[in-house]
Amino acid sequence: MQAFLKGATVQSVRPQKDKTTAGSSAEKKIKALPWVEKYRPKCVDEVAFQEEVVAVLKKSLEGADLPNLLFYGPPGTGKTSTILAAARELYGPELFRHRVLELNASDERGIQVVREKVKNFAQLTVAGSRSDGKPCPPFKIIILDEADSMTAPAQAALRRTMEKESRTTRFCLICNYISRIIEPLTSRCSKFRFKPLANQIQEERLLAICDKEKLKFTKESVAALVKVSDGDLRKAITFLQSAARLSADKQITEQTVIEIAGVVPPKMIDNLLQICFKGTFEKLEVTVRDMVDEGYAATQILSQLHDAIIEQELSDRQKSAITEKMAVVGKCLTDGADENLQLLSLCSVIMQQSTQTHNN
Ligand SMILES: Nc1ncnc2c1ncn2[C@@H]1O[C@H](COP(=O)(O)OP(=O)(O)O)[C@@H](O)[C@H]1O
Ligand SMILES: [Mg+2]
Repeated sequence: MQAFLKGATVQSVRPQKDKTTAGSSAEKKIKALPWVEKYRPKCVDEVAFQEEVVAVLKKSLEGADLPNLLFYGPPGTGKTSTILAAARELYGPELFRHRVLELNASDERGIQVVREKVKNFAQLTVAGSRSDGKPCPPFKIIILDEADSMTAPAQAALRRTMEKESRTTRFCLICNYISRIIEPLTSRCSKFRFKPLANQIQEERLLAICDKEKLKFTKESVAALVKVSDGDLRKAITFLQSAARLSADKQITEQTVIEIAGVVPPKMIDNLLQICFKGTFEKLEVTVRDMVDEGYAATQILSQLHDAIIEQELSDRQKSAITEKMAVVGKCLTDGADENLQLLSLCSVIMQQSTQTHNN
C-alpha cells in the first residue's frame, strides 16, 4: 500500500504540473525552497526515530481507523512533518486540500474560530473514495499546530466539537508542552511523545542532505552541527544551509558552523567565570557589557554558563543556588527583559556564591 500510494502521488500529479508550468521556472521554484521544506519527509516511512507513532499511523494507512492524535515534544523532531506526510498518503495530493484543515498559532484561534471555522469544516460529510477511484478514509483531519498557545476556553470549545463530530473528523493536536493542554482534551487523544533525535540519526540526515546538495564539508563540521542543535533537526538543517551559503564553493568547516550558531568561544565563558570567582564587580560589569555588545545572545551565554558551572568545583549548595538563579534569568529573558542586566544579575549571584567558603 505504501509503494502504491507513493507511486500515485508522484506519477499522477507531478507530470501534469510540470507540463503546465515552464520547466525552468519549476526548477527555480524547487531550488528556492528552504532545505527544511525541501527535505521534509514525504511519507511516514521517511520519519526517523519516532517508531511508535509511525507504527500506529502505518496501521491506519492500511485501513484501520485513526484515533484523535496528540503529538508533543521539543521543536524540530518531526511532529508537523509526520501528520502532514500521513495525511498526504491517506488522501493523495488532490483530496488533501479538501480533507485537511491546518491551523497554526499564527492564525487567530480564539473561541470564535473554533466555534466557526473548525466546526464548519468538521460538519462537512465526506465520501469514502477518491476521484481516482482509490479508497480513502471517510473522515477529515483537522491539524491544530502549536495547540498549547490556544486559550483554555477555546480548548474547551474544541472538546465539544471533537466529541460531536467524531464520526467524520479526526483531530491532530500538536504542541511542545502537553501540560498546557486541558485534561479533557488529552484524555480524548492518543498521545505520542516525540523524542529529541539521537545524534547518529541527525548525522545521517545531515550527511544525506550534504550528499544531495553536493556539499564539501569536514567530518568535524557535521559533528558540530549535531552538537549545537541539541536534538532539533530543523535547527541543524537551517544551520547547514547557512553554512553552505557562507562557504560558497569552499569546504564547510567546524569554525563556520560555530560562527553561524552564535556559540560563544569557550575561552570567553572561562574568562567570565574567572572574573566572577576572582575579579571585581566593576570588571564584571565591563566584561558582561562587552559580550552583549559583541552580539552574543544572552540565552546562548546562559546555556553555556550553565554547562560550565556544572563542571566547576563548587559545592552542591552553591551550584543549586546558581542554577536556580539561572532559571529565573531564563524566564526573564524569554519575557523580554534587558539582556545586560539579567546577565549581570546572574553573574553577581555566581560571584556571591563563589566567595562563600565551601562548607558542605
Ligand atoms: N523525525 C524526523 N525524521 C525526519 N526528518 C525530520 C524529523 N524531525 C525533523 N525533521 C526535519 O526537520 C524539519 C522540521 O520538522 P517539523 O516536523 O516541522 O518539526 P516540529 O513540528 O516537530 O517542530 C523537517 O523539515 C525535517 O526535514
Ligand atoms: Mg511544527
